[in-house]
Amino acid sequence: MRGELRAFVCGLTEAQLTPPIIETINPPLWEAAHVAWFAEWWCVRDAYNTDSGDTRADRPSLWDGCDAFLNSNTIAHAARWSVPQLTRAATLDYLDRSLAATLERLDCAEPTDDALCPFRLAMFHEAMHLEAIAWCAQTLAWPMPAWVDGSAIARHAAPPTDGFVVQTRLLNVDTTATGFCFDNERNPPPPKPITTPLSSALVSNAQYAQFVESGAFEATVRAAHPRYWRRSSDGAWQQRRFDQWVALAPDEPVVHISALEAEAFAVHHGGRLPTEPELARWLTLPSPNGATAWHGAVWEWTLSDFAPYENFKPDRYREYSAPWFDGQHRVLRGASFATLNVMHHPNYRNFFQPQRGDVFAGFRVVDESAQN
Ligand SMILES: [Fe+2]
Repeated sequence: MRGELRAFVCGLTEAQLTPPIIETINPPLWEAAHVAWFAEWWCVRDAYNTDSGDTRADRPSLWDGCDAFLNSNTIAHAARWSVPQLTRAATLDYLDRSLAATLERLDCAEPTDDALCPFRLAMFHEAMHLEAIAWCAQTLAWPMPAWVDGSAIARHAAPPTDGFVVQTRLLNVDTTATGFCFDNERNPPPPKPITTPLSSALVSNAQYAQFVESGAFEATVRAAHPRYWRRSSDGAWQQRRFDQWVALAPDEPVVHISALEAEAFAVHHGGRLPTEPELARWLTLPSPNGATAWHGAVWEWTLSDFAPYENFKPDRYREYSAPWFDGQHRVLRGASFATLNVMHHPNYRNFFQPQRGDVFAGFRVVDESAQN
């Protein structure tokens, strides 16, 4: 992962080093250096939580003073665009030194879940930021990052078949098992039988295009078409994938749809989005061939607000979940074609505001009229 991030930083053009200020992305040098800071903070500097609710590290950083501009909890989003210390050379140097120091500490760590927790946290944090860089690249029409497999969305479009193995995260939702999970994923409610008929297929581009062409999209969403869509000269729909305009693939799942746009479609068809428990149960149900109903192509929106499970306790990274239990964020489950394999898993809970359509999200629909 670090090698890919390093190569990405090396390959940035001068213009890409200073992108426009957009609330949903980070400037790339800040994002890369922040990843290195996070690993050093938890794995090398032994950061700890205090009784007063903050988090500290007593050991100094390899980059003197970098807490002031790389700690995401203390630097405002807009300020990330004006950090003069963040040159390409300084960022690359810190990426390398932080990784070397982290691996040196890992070599001495006991092989226990407790001792490995900061290293796993840093690894998954880095993977999350690599996906965030991918949606930054999509937002800004940059080339597709090298670690993203653009063909994966088509491969994942159909329901999985025998031998489809994409669950690779060391997920520990069973507290007796080994591995890692984020604090908001621990202690999930016991699964209930599904009584609602949930579509086994994600809503496709063709289905969504029909909705747009019916006029119902514009009537409810107040836009002519979804983001990153346009008509070609012959009237056919095209979709922007990173820096390329391509023909809209009818059978692929629709992507870059907000929860509000997904709901507009569902309501128009007499249905609704699934709740998180419904979707969670559905995505992990084994089919007769032993695979699950999960596609893994796009994040899947739910109706549910992001909320803690029973007995929630924040982990050491206190700001990961708890600040977002605010009723303003929806749960998405699964992962997308741009999620790194290391964390591509149907139990992954993500959370975004329902108007966000820049992330790699799609949806499926519950048809309540067919309820039995
Ligand atoms: Fe972060």
